[in-house]
Amino acid sequence: MSYKIAIDGPSSAGKSTLAKGLAKALGYVYIDTGAMYRAIGYYLLKEGVDPHDEEAIKKVLDKIDVTLDYDSDGNLHVYLNKEDISKFIRTESVGDAASVSSQFADVRSKLVSLQRKLADEKSCVMDGRDIASNVLPDANLKLFVTASDECRAKRRLAEEKEKGIDTTYEKVLEDLKARDYRDTHRKLNPLIKVDEAHVIDTTDMSPDDMIDDVLKRFF
Ligand code: C5P
Repeated sequence: MSYKIAIDGPSSAGKSTLAKGLAKALGYVYIDTGAMYRAIGYYLLKEGVDPHDEEAIKKVLDKIDVTLDYDSDGNLHVYLNKEDISKFIRTESVGDAASVSSQFADVRSKLVSLQRKLADEKSCVMDGRDIASNVLPDANLKLFVTASDECRAKRRLAEEKEKGIDTTYEKVLEDLKARDYRDTHRKLNPLIKVDEAHVIDTTDMSPDDMIDDVLKRFF
């Protein structure tokens, strides 16, 4: 029987750091569902399809094949139609295209069935927005990861600066809030904390602190 850990939370709260760390410590597979939505967002931008245009997206969905794979160091790679696009999907514009197009039923059902299939194969840590509420409602452990707006914006700003992107704290904070609003207010599978999820507030935690905290409390 595979063991499933579901991690949900808003952008830049520390979900992927925690998910990757837990997967490594426990020998489980890490499934980054945000990367899958980003792969679709990337395709739409590349092909000039408006991420708001549901009908146009429906027409191209069959041409989009998203897969995940891992290199020998255990790092996750995202493939779009067999091309490794991992390096190109961590931009604000791809994140926004993912956030806009992820509101549509056909986009979600395509990715959710793939996510469930992956989770059935091996014990896993899966992170996203609707994992505990929708993708894996039977997960063995459900975590809701959060952090203050200020902390999340500072983390995001540091990431952007590292990538050489010229932006400001105010711009990053505004973008985070817009993304939070869209992800929590959409009709289909919005980001919610399910009753049985344990809240992990990472505001004052280092990456190692959050991983140790979860391992000590639940394993
Ligand atoms: O987590 P990440 O920022 O990579 O996700 C990009 C976008 O994909 C999110 O803002 C959200 O709109 C969407 N997403 C989703 N459901 C998930 C994971 C991500 O709708 N399970």
